[in-house]
Amino acid sequence: AAGLAHEIRNPLAGIAGVIEIIGRDLPPTSTARGVVKDVRQEITRINRIVSDLLETARPRPLQVRPGDLNTTVEHAVMLARQQALSKPITIDLKKDPALQEVNHDSDQIHQVLLNLLLNAIQASEGKGSIQVELQHRDENAVIVVSDNGRGIPPEHLPNIFRPFYTTKGNGTGLGLSLARRIVEEHRGRIEVTSSLGHGSKFVVFLPFHPPAAEIAQND
Ligand SMILES: Nc1ncnc2c1ncn2[C@@H]1O[C@H](COP(=O)(O)OP(=O)(O)O)[C@@H](O)[C@H]1O
Ligand SMILES: [Mg+2]
Repeated sequence: AAGLAHEIRNPLAGIAGVIEIIGRDLPPTSTARGVVKDVRQEITRINRIVSDLLETARPRPLQVRPGDLNTTVEHAVMLARQQALSKPITIDLKKDPALQEVNHDSDQIHQVLLNLLLNAIQASEGKGSIQVELQHRDENAVIVVSDNGRGIPPEHLPNIFRPFYTTKGNGTGLGLSLARRIVEEHRGRIEVTSSLGHGSKFVVFLPFHPPAAEIAQND
């Protein structure tokens, strides 16, 4: 599967390089600059789809280390803000300075947050407001991601974590299934509440002290 990733990513990197050069040579007033930007965004999107497909086909084993969840979440928020630059969307982050370290795979939890944030961005209509908040509740570190987007019809809720379930024309339906799998491998859980037309709230619970031997290590 890693070979397949290279087969797709290498030509894409080639295209991205050419686009970069073309973009640099365009006069500042050229209308083609917009097209260059579109192509760059589409390349980012293809890369993400390839990552999601590969991650689904062959999950990476967790690499768990004690670390500050505030930092992991902050990195994902910064990346999501970049993705939302062209839209009237604000993403607020409330860290929890008192949060104990959490044993987690920071790359994979980063992926979880990014998937939740991209969904929140895509659900936003008009002025989007997305809130990310870290908290501690009993034996869990908690990450709350809420948006004021279109919401999820109650009859869709049972389906949203299923692989390949999507209501988007260009969705893969893999984001939430990956997110849930990663969180469950950390012995945590994801809860969702949503109100149609008002917004959605995803809450990730990660235990501070999962029994070490019990954290799933894929083979
Ligand atoms: N924040 C959200 N607001 C509204 N709907 C959402 C949100 N997050 C997820 N969904 C719904 O869940 C579906 C599955 O999400 P996901 O697994 O990330 O796949 P994709 O984003 O590719 O559609 C989405 O197509 C959408 O219908
Ligand atoms: Mg998604």
